[in-house]
Amino acid sequence: MTDPAFRPLRLSDAPDLLAVMRRAEGGLGRLPSEMDLPWMEEALAGALAGGVAIGAFTGARLIGVIKASRMPSVQFQHVLWDLTIAVAPEAQGCGVGCRLFAELIAAARALAPPVERIELVVREGLTHAIRLYERVGFRREGRFERRFRLSDGRYEADLPMALFL
Ligand SMILES: CC(C)(COP(=O)(O)OP(=O)(O)OC[C@H]1O[C@@H](n2cnc3c(N)ncnc32)[C@H](O)[C@@H]1OP(=O)(O)O)[C@@H](O)C(=O)NCCC(=O)NCCS
Repeated sequence: MTDPAFRPLRLSDAPDLLAVMRRAEGGLGRLPSEMDLPWMEEALAGALAGGVAIGAFTGARLIGVIKASRMPSVQFQHVLWDLTIAVAPEAQGCGVGCRLFAELIAAARALAPPVERIELVVREGLTHAIRLYERVGFRREGRFERRFRLSDGRYEADLPMALFL
C-alpha cells in the first residue's frame, strides 16, 4: 500500500468520511443504515469544535479517520471522548490505525486548554482493535455488561478504556 499522508479533516470532508465509516462498520456503534450526511456533519463539527479529527489519505482518497470531541462543561474540559476510528477495509492491517492514533495523540498534546485524558469504548469481541488500543497506551477501566447487541441477537460487553497524556 502507498504510504498514506495525514491531515486534519474539514467539514467539507464529511461525504468522504461517511463513505469510509459505512464501509468500515463492523465494530462501529452505528449500522451503515443509521449513518447519513447530516449525522456525519454534526459528528465532525462536534470533533472540530475543540477536539481532533484527522484523515489518512492516499493521494486525494480518504482511507482512514480518527476523531474525538472535547467533553463539554468546564469540569471535563481536559477530556477527549466519543472517539471514533475507522479504516477502509482494503487498507486495514497495514498500520494505518496505529499511525492515526499517533497523529491524534500529537494533535491532542498541542490543544489548548490542555488535554489530559482520552477515552474510548470498544466491544469486547473486537480483540484486534483492543490489542491496537493497548499498544498505543490505552488501559481498560471497566466493563459495561450486555451493552452491545449484535445483529444475531447475542450481546457483548462494552469496555471503557482511557489514555493519559
Ligand atoms: C480497528 C481498526 C480501526 C484498526 O485499523 P487498522 O489500520 O487495521 O490497524 P492496524 O493495521 O494498525 O492493526 C491493528 C491490528 O488489527 C489487525 N487487524 C486489522 N484489521 C483486522 C480485521 N478486519 N480482522 C482482524 N484483525 C485485523 C492487524 O493485523 C493488527 O494486528 P496485530 O495487533 O496483531 O498487529 C480497523 O480494523 C477498522 O476500521 N475496523 C472497523 C471499524 C471499527 O471496528 N472501529 C473501531 C470501533 S471501537
